[in-house]
Amino acid sequence: MNYSCNKAATKYFPLPWRFSQQSVADALSASLDRLQVASVALYQVHWPLSFLLSQQDLMQALAAEVKRGRIGAVGVSNYSASQMRQAHGYLAEQGVPLAVNQVQYSLLNRKIETSGVMATARELGVTILAYSPLAQGLLTGKYTPDSDLKPAGARRISPSFSQENLTKLKPIIQALKEIGQEHGRTSAQVALNWLVAQGNVLPIPGAKNARQAAQNAGSLGWQLTIDELDQLDRLTQDYR
Ligand SMILES: NC(=O)c1ccc[n+]([C@@H]2O[C@H](COP(=O)([O-])OP(=O)(O)OC[C@H]3O[C@@H](n4cnc5c(N)ncnc54)[C@H](OP(=O)(O)O)[C@@H]3O)[C@@H](O)[C@H]2O)c1
Repeated sequence: MNYSCNKAATKYFPLPWRFSQQSVADALSASLDRLQVASVALYQVHWPLSFLLSQQDLMQALAAEVKRGRIGAVGVSNYSASQMRQAHGYLAEQGVPLAVNQVQYSLLNRKIETSGVMATARELGVTILAYSPLAQGLLTGKYTPDSDLKPAGARRISPSFSQENLTKLKPIIQALKEIGQEHGRTSAQVALNWLVAQGNVLPIPGAKNARQAAQNAGSLGWQLTIDELDQLDRLTQDYR
């Protein structure tokens, strides 16, 4: 069977009033209309929420859409190790793989390495889509305790962007910069490349403009050395 589809990826939010399998199909129809495509490559469940529609029924509805050709692959987001295993099992009953779990993962948030999410994803063949892979811009190195540059939006009041935290991050920011210089790359590219080097990980950095998007794309096609990976690993052990 040929499930050729558009390259777009989007998400499904399990809202309380989406309580039937038909409502999953309707939500997908509305997404396809908005995107003006006949199908999406990846359709992800945004949060592991279950109201009146059980996870089993939700996964069955998504598997049916794969077979119908409107979804190329099924993903989940913010699922724990056990929730991911359960979703994987319900999909497997329908002969459909679980393609991705989109979770927060960066050098400054390595919790999936200790929570079981990473190990389970590897065991099940699930790709980790790493969101906030630049720690919302911190790993670009442009926000420093001495600079006048302040982040926009909610980051202004986030403890992560406080003077105190920016000072604490200095050794990591310095290492990213120095490693980048060795490769003719930016700190952001090094931080993203470290994620790619973990194997089953695909970072999805946000970009405010074309320059950032182009730079982030430059995190692919080259490799950090084993020593550099080890150095970054050691410097960020506290974030596991
Ligand atoms: N599944 C979920 O629940 C969930 C939750 C959160 C986010 N996400 C997704 O994850 C993706 C990215 O996460 P995120 O935006 O939170 O964090 P991020 O990718 O870690 O950081 C993105 C921010 O860093 C700055 N930046 C990016 N590239 C840069 C570069 N090359 N040079 C300098 N600055 C750069 C930009 O902000 P400034 O220029 O303003 O600093 C940009 O908005 C988004 O697509 C988002 O939809 C998913």
